[in-house]
Amino acid sequence: MTITTTDATKNGDAAAAAVTKTTTTTTTTTPITTSSSTSSFYRIEPMSDEYLSSALDVAHDFLGGTYRKRACCILPLSFLPLPMSEFQKSFATENAKSFSAIAIRNDDNTVIGLAHMTDSTMWRDPISQWLHDSVEGEAYIEMLCVLEEYRGQGIGKCLLEFCEDRAKERNMKTMALGVVKKNPAIHLYERFGFQIVPFHGFGDACLTCLAVFCIMGCPYWGCGGVDMVKELKYAQ
Ligand SMILES: CC(C)(COP(=O)(O)OP(=O)(O)OC[C@H]1O[C@@H](n2cnc3c(N)ncnc32)[C@H](O)[C@@H]1OP(=O)(O)O)[C@@H](O)C(=O)NCCC(=O)NCCS
Repeated sequence: MTITTTDATKNGDAAAAAVTKTTTTTTTTTPITTSSSTSSFYRIEPMSDEYLSSALDVAHDFLGGTYRKRACCILPLSFLPLPMSEFQKSFATENAKSFSAIAIRNDDNTVIGLAHMTDSTMWRDPISQWLHDSVEGEAYIEMLCVLEEYRGQGIGKCLLEFCEDRAKERNMKTMALGVVKKNPAIHLYERFGFQIVPFHGFGDACLTCLAVFCIMGCPYWGCGGVDMVKELKYAQ
């Protein structure tokens, strides 16, 4: 069965996005084909096995890319590539895959962006668990990245919109994420409705600072990270 609907979705300054819902007997996918007055070159889909390898390349670009992120400011994270066996664990179930989004270039089906989101029932890697305790009713964005040459064109926002829709479908109360201080992505999150959550005291702030420094160093010359939360609103 194929259902096709059209939805007005803002894409940065761009116009509308067409949302196509395709339902088969075994899986449900929700590709979003973006379009604007000037371009239409990518679509947003839930994660699927077919795109895992290309999505892992995007994750590696994020870890080894901007400002050459380094563990404790010393060891480039590109020297510690995330193995496919670990990456696959995050997307082992249909439930987990359908909760995460990828942006795919239409011309050659290359993944150019990734939003990995979990809820408290899903597998999370130990480092992520150390940085953030997931609670029931919270959709947590583990990773959001877009390949450098495609940034600033609304893809990040489209990925966030996809994630919010999935979170609402599952009646989540909040969306949350952690971000390194001074990362320009904070502006995008604030515009999308996320707010910075204050730390519970000085000890908590110091611990977070230390944890982020050990894992990421100071990629944006800011010390530590911030937690951000968006309360999800439902029509009555
Ligand atoms: C953050 C990111 C996913 C946004 O994707 P995008 O497609 O560029 O986002 P959009 O085009 O929808 O929105 C643009 C906004 O993203 C932010 N942004 C732009 N370039 C960025 C960059 N190099 N790094 C981080 N954020 C950036 C800015 O807030 C920008 O808006 P502004 O120019 O008005 O300030 C993307 O820039 C990225 O992959 N950055 C590196 C990875 C990262 O820092 N991820 C967040 C970790 S929590």
